[in-house]
Amino acid sequence: MEAQIKKLHELNEKAELGGGVARLEKQHLAGKLTARERIEKLLDTATFVEIDKYVVHRENGFGMDKNKILGDGVVTGYGQINGRTAFVFAQDFTVFGGALAEMFAQKICKVMDMAARVGAPVIGLNDSGGARIQEGVKSLAGYADIFLRNSLCSGLIPQISAIMGPCAGGAVYSPALTDFVFMVKDTSYMFITGPEVVKTVTHEDVTKEELGGAMAHNAKSGAAHFATENDLDCIVSIKELLSYLPQNNMEEPPFVATTDDANRVEDGFEKIVPVNPNTPYDMKDIIKLLVDDAIFFEVQEHHAKNIIIGFCRLNGKTIGIVANQPAILAGALDIDASVKAARFVRFCDCFNIPILTLVDVPGFLPGVSQEHDGIIRHGAKLLYAYCEATVPKVTLITRKAYGGAYDVMSSKHLRGDLNYAYPIAEIAVMGPDGAVNILNRKELSEAADPVEAKAKLVNEYRENFANPYRAAELGYIDEVIEPSLTRPKLIRAFELMANKRMSNPPKKHSNLPL
Ligand code: HXC
Repeated sequence: MEAQIKKLHELNEKAELGGGVARLEKQHLAGKLTARERIEKLLDTATFVEIDKYVVHRENGFGMDKNKILGDGVVTGYGQINGRTAFVFAQDFTVFGGALAEMFAQKICKVMDMAARVGAPVIGLNDSGGARIQEGVKSLAGYADIFLRNSLCSGLIPQISAIMGPCAGGAVYSPALTDFVFMVKDTSYMFITGPEVVKTVTHEDVTKEELGGAMAHNAKSGAAHFATENDLDCIVSIKELLSYLPQNNMEEPPFVATTDDANRVEDGFEKIVPVNPNTPYDMKDIIKLLVDDAIFFEVQEHHAKNIIIGFCRLNGKTIGIVANQPAILAGALDIDASVKAARFVRFCDCFNIPILTLVDVPGFLPGVSQEHDGIIRHGAKLLYAYCEATVPKVTLITRKAYGGAYDVMSSKHLRGDLNYAYPIAEIAVMGPDGAVNILNRKELSEAADPVEAKAKLVNEYRENFANPYRAAELGYIDEVIEPSLTRPKLIRAFELMANKRMSNPPKKHSNLPL
């Protein structure tokens, strides 16, 4: 037995060297951790169990029969993250540039299948030259096998992708199908075709970073959710995200005890929200004041900043927050904001995470480009997501809720469970200025002093319509609350709804507007 055990140790050592010492050093010189170092830092100490360590490819062309590397370029297995099971795969750039092929893909599929079976998250650490050229269509088939599993696992277990190196061509679609995409600044990029192809086809000059770097996808395309400083920062952020999530769609999110008083009364809320409906303020100040220990884990903070999404805890329980941001575009809903929030609402609904919606919205953003680029279609996504969601939904209108955006932002009519408003809230078809211009056009054109006449009419409108009481009279607002009581009111609302059970009519699946 001794000889066999010695051989096992030798094989393990060989597998752990990946593409060899020189390539591992090159990886470090590029400012990146190796695949195994990444896994080690992601998982709790000594919990990683590697599987398929001795797998090799089956390709004989291109001299590949003489170049078989144990593990075939991807390290796969499972372990614990903060004491909970997680499955992981890390592409090893030191082996064939991390390029994906038949057996490499089979290894990834195996961990995905296991994760789905036991109900635990999958975290993919991507660092790859894409489809392994030598294996041709077998590589493409391998990607498709993964895409299929990404889709089938969607809504079943959380799927997280980290882009920690190149990710090009169709390879980008696996991350795109997962729930959250992290990117590392300066060392990662994603694109369908690189700068050289872009130059040939469209004659545009663009660098890799500009085309598909971390900020390109975090700020512009919205394909990524987090931009991290380096590999370690990326891994720490993944763990933080997971701390808010359940293991699967049948579980509740984890409870994290807090010393932050559930009955905390705060005068600050009143000071943050300006009475003048046109004065901007930072909704994040409201969020920080109401959540446990002022900790808000923001998602997609660089994209569509006119809406804020992210996770927090209220009295220890995970809550997803969707909030208009009056400091950017006056908080208006545009295409990007609608899509960003819709996907987040759907994620929360998949994984039993209650949703808090903070509303201060003047409406949908007007404009030819918004109309022609499809604000109707994209705005419908957010509407649809809220309609469909059956998790507890609590809404607080801090100031403006105008027009269609009032309906969309988790209104009572979309099965909002508890809908609150501050006393200064204005709930109406449109703001006083626009309303008076339409309703009193003739009167204003004939007035001796149009400015004075308009001011009078605006005031009347505000008194009559731009307040929360018209909506409260009809039961569309359950309670007009004092701002100082925001935290205790919201905590009690979510506690009341903790055992909410609601389901949608049975069907094959819905037809979300895409
Ligand atoms: C096989 C590959 C490879 C690939 C890289 N390598 N990409 N081997 N198939 N796709 C190998 C290289 O030969 C080299 O091997 C090692 O990986 C490291 O590559 P370098 O070029 O030396 O590294 P670097 O300079 O850092 O450049 C990395 C890179 C570049 C930017 C990723 O290698 C590159 O452009 N590769 C091709 C990318 C690509 O076009 N892939 C196909 C995308 S389309 P040695 O032995 O010298 O160390 C696609 C379709 C997916 O993926 C479809 C899914 C539906």
